[in-house]
Amino acid sequence: MTLEVTDLTVDIGPRRVVSGVSFSVPDGARVGLIGESGSGKSLTALAILGLLPEGATAGGSIRWNGRELLGLRDREIARLRGDEIGIVFQEPRTALNPIRTVGRQIAESIRIHEGATKKDAAARAVAEASRVALPDPGSIVGRYPHQLSGGQRQRVAIAMALACRPRLLIADEPTTALDVTIQAEILELLRTLVADDGMSLVFITHDLAVLSQIATHGVVLEHGRVVEQGAVSQLLSGPVSPVTQGLLRDATATLWRPGGAE
Ligand SMILES: Nc1ncnc2c1ncn2[C@@H]1O[C@H](COP(=O)(O)OP(=O)(O)O)[C@@H](O)[C@H]1O
Ligand SMILES: [Mg+2]
Repeated sequence: MTLEVTDLTVDIGPRRVVSGVSFSVPDGARVGLIGESGSGKSLTALAILGLLPEGATAGGSIRWNGRELLGLRDREIARLRGDEIGIVFQEPRTALNPIRTVGRQIAESIRIHEGATKKDAAARAVAEASRVALPDPGSIVGRYPHQLSGGQRQRVAIAMALACRPRLLIADEPTTALDVTIQAEILELLRTLVADDGMSLVFITHDLAVLSQIATHGVVLEHGRVVEQGAVSQLLSGPVSPVTQGLLRDATATLWRPGGAE
């Protein structure tokens, strides 16, 4: 299952905010989209997922397993999300319903995509909570999002995204809103789950140190354009574009901090 993004454009009203972005994610590959805030990372991800905001239009081509996603009907793309493509956003609160228990929310994503019975889905929810290493899964499923820590809520969001074993995970700054120690734990969890399932990954970050921990290929964006892409080791050892060089300078502080990336 390969994702191929070719000459992607996103226009918001008269403004072109993503211009001619091309990259591909071969089966099982871990690709990072990296750039400063406002460089078009999230809109690129949202275009892939058919979740662009009102008034935004996408052009070019996004092929998933050979099938063109741009122009698919809402129902068809909604079906792909969760079934074949999982999503984790920066802020788990936005993914979670505050008035439903986390177990019910995990169970619902299982029921929608697999048509499991209520009872089976509830049992599976406990197993999925355990898989993302939530403490005391049997009882945590009965809690509400506000009763969990930020890191635990992000684990719930990850459980929901992965419950139906998608082939591709798109994670948009999944650790940015968390404390540094929790960031490392969530990154490690994602790395393990992606490896266990042999999923492909599109990981979005503004931090090259974070990127180097989870992705092998990096696509560097600036003002909605790709300025450089290549192996992450290459971006770290010989960045060509000034943008990548700047990201590397920012990241170096993190890489060398005790308990940092290395
Ligand atoms: N809903 C929106 N309406 C208008 N402009 C937007 C909207 N979302 C994003 N933009 C603009 O598009 C550009 C890229 O945004 P985004 O993809 O969110 O950047 P990133 O995720 O890299 O921080 C930014 O200039 C941003 O201001
Ligand atoms: Mg963003």
